[in-house]
Order: sequence, then structure tokens, then C-alpha cells
Amino acid sequence: MSVSPSLPTEPAVARPSAAEASSAVAPAASKPAGPAPDWRRLREDFPILHQTVHGKPLIYFDNAATSQKPRVVIETLRRYYERDNANVHRGIHELSNRATQAYEAARARVARFLNARCPEEIVFTRGTTEGINLVAHSWGLQHLKPGDVILLTELEHHSNLVPWQLVAERTGAKLAFVPVTGDEGIVDARRLEELLAPPVKLFAMVHVSNSLGVVNPVADWCARARARGIVTLVDGAQSAGHMPVDVQALGCDFFVFSGHKTCGPTGIGVLYGRQELLETLPPYQGGGEMILSVEYHRTLFKPAPHRFEAGTPDISGPIGLHAALDYLDMIGRERIWQHDQELAQYAYDRLAALGGIRLFGPKRNRAGLVSFLLQDVHAHDVVTLADREGIALRGGHHCTQPLMRKLGVESTARASFYFYNTVEEVDRFIEVIQAIQRFFAR
Ligand code: ALA
Repeated sequence: MSVSPSLPTEPAVARPSAAEASSAVAPAASKPAGPAPDWRRLREDFPILHQTVHGKPLIYFDNAATSQKPRVVIETLRRYYERDNANVHRGIHELSNRATQAYEAARARVARFLNARCPEEIVFTRGTTEGINLVAHSWGLQHLKPGDVILLTELEHHSNLVPWQLVAERTGAKLAFVPVTGDEGIVDARRLEELLAPPVKLFAMVHVSNSLGVVNPVADWCARARARGIVTLVDGAQSAGHMPVDVQALGCDFFVFSGHKTCGPTGIGVLYGRQELLETLPPYQGGGEMILSVEYHRTLFKPAPHRFEAGTPDISGPIGLHAALDYLDMIGRERIWQHDQELAQYAYDRLAALGGIRLFGPKRNRAGLVSFLLQDVHAHDVVTLADREGIALRGGHHCTQPLMRKLGVESTARASFYFYNTVEEVDRFIEVIQAIQRFFAR
């Protein structure tokens, strides 16, 4: 496998400029020219990775929960608070102008990252969950009525399920689910084709399953939905930081992701909405910043995206996210995707070779994570014992309780990877898993 080639460049520091803030949106990064990155050297950009935990070198395999932050992101946040901190869109003074410019430059950067048509298609949210809640309440309450159907897959994270349950209760709409098959969790394409029809009004789908590592063909699904007049939302929490994402190529109406899973800060997320649709949606929350004028009994709202950003927003979050997206694109998302897939396949094959283990998710073409159960060992015991060896895994239902029930399990153990993880770390992880198996076999 080719997960340790040559040369990185220095991390690009996010220096938002006025030109960038107002520039037209360029296409998303394509395959970078030149030598492949030196993955080992990139690890040096992550201070947190260089520590021991319980006396052992940290191996961080919980990247599906949150990614670590490169120094450039940490420094960008520090610099913002040391030099530019002020409220946005309000002040006329220098610091407020700088903060506003950086905030809007971040919006333009996100638009470029997703290949949106313009920055106005980008709404800042607290994360994936808030983005879905925004669409569910704003679009859902406006469009759904009794008898309508919201279509989801059985793979969905609670964040792409519970908001739709809430909106279904309020509107009288119903939920329907495209089934998945077996432990691999592949969505049943035939059932999807049958289900994707009136009275379905919206199809909300996960791009990459956080529990199983399934990669869904969402461009194809969005095209089928569009042909039937069905609105689409893609949950990109596990895809945006790991693979190239082009919302125009995907053909989705909405796309959501979280900054903290893409090397950015916590508390910042993104909702992309196709402009014609976003412009028609009512506000999700009311308050300052999102208004043009207010009278005691009525309010005139700003156009999208500002209409959806009530109150003082997270300002440092988008600025930190800007630095993170620059950093990811410096490496190249095609390369990150290839690296993560190769590492996950290597881990999957090595685990499969151990025996006494149940593996979940696809055998091939999986995203950068493996979900598993050791025979007669609770997932929490695996995670606790791995932690004693300095390895951070996640064990539990991964916020996909209905999927776990379908698989007939309560939980799984999960190792999830990012570009700073190495083959040697996977080898050490396998040694530890073998030791856990021996421990429980005694
Ligand atoms: N959804 C995140 C995970 O899968 C938190 O761990």
C-alpha cells in the first residue's frame, strides 16, 4: 500500500483577503500536481498527537467522532483573538470590519471547498445536526403536509432521523426507510428505486455511514430523486473532510457538514442550500443580525444566507474552518481519501485474518473506518482495554440505535482513521486486539 510517500509543503496560513471575500467561486480542488504528501511529516502539524496516554504513545483512532487540529488552525484562532476580535456586520470600526471581512471570506472559502455556485449558498451553523434541523424546520414546516413522506435510509445517524421525526409529528408527514442488507449495510438499490416516488417529498441520505463505513452513491440517488421532483439533503458529516465534494456534481439541494470533523474548530458547521431553494425558505430562528428592519408587530428579513444566522454568530469558528479547509486542500482531498481508504482496508483485512471477530460494513470500497465485535467481548471492554494501551477507539451505538438493532447488536467497537494515521499504528492496534482476545480467552 502507498500510505507513506514524500514531501509536504508548509501549511497554508488562512489570510482572508477582501478579494477572496468577494471573489467568484472557483471549482473545488482537483487532483493536486506534484509529489504525494509526506504523511509522517504532516503528523508534525498536530501537536496533540505527540503525547503518551497511560504511558503509551497515543494512537488516535476516533476521527469519525472528531478530528484533531493542525497548528495552523490553532494559530489562526489565537491570532484572531489577539488582533481582530470584534462583532460582525454591526460595527464601523476597524476591528469590526476586519472580523466581518474574515467571516465573509470564510463563507467564500467554504463555497469554493464545496464548489457551490456562490457564497450566498453557504449558511454557517453549529454543526451537521443544526444544519439538518434548520432544513427540517424551515423547509419541512413550509412544505410538508399529512400524507407526505420523508424518505431516509436505515443507515442514518440520529441527527438525520430525530429532526425528521419531530417535523413529521408536527406536519402529519410519515417517515419511510430504504433498507440495508446484512452486516455489510449496503442500501438495497431495488427497494430504493421502488420507494423513490410520490408521496415522497424529500430524501435525506447519509453520504458516508459513521457506523459501518458504507459509501453511498449519492450523486446517482440525487439524480433519481430530482427526476421525480423530490428534494434531497446529503449528510456529509463523514465525507466532507475525507473526499472531494462537489455539490453541483452531486446535484443535491442541501448538503451539511461539521467543521470539527474537517480539522476545524468545534461549534461551527455548514449548510449548503441551492440558492433558488434557500431564498424561498423562512427563517429558522429570529433575532439580531438576520433582519433588514423591525417594527413592533412585523419584521423584514435579510436575504439568505444571513436570514438564517440570527444573533451574534460563532465568528472565530468560520475563521478557524477557513484555515482548516486551506490545510486539507493543500494536502489534496483525493489523496486523503485514498490514504484513508487504504488504511481502513488494511485494518479490515488484518482484523478479518484474526478470526473470532464480526466485522461490519462493506468488504471493499469502504470509507476510513472499521466497526467490529470480538466474540463474547463487549465493545466497551475492547475500548477500555485499548485505551490502557494508548489507543483511542469508540464503542457504542454511534448514534445509530435503529441500525444497531437491525444488525442485532447493542454496540460495536470502531476504529476511524485520518491522514495522520499510519500503517504502524494499525499494526500496533492489531497487536492490542490480539492481546484482548487472549485476555478474554483465558
Ligand atoms: N457522529 C460522531 C461519531 O460517529 C460523533 O462518532
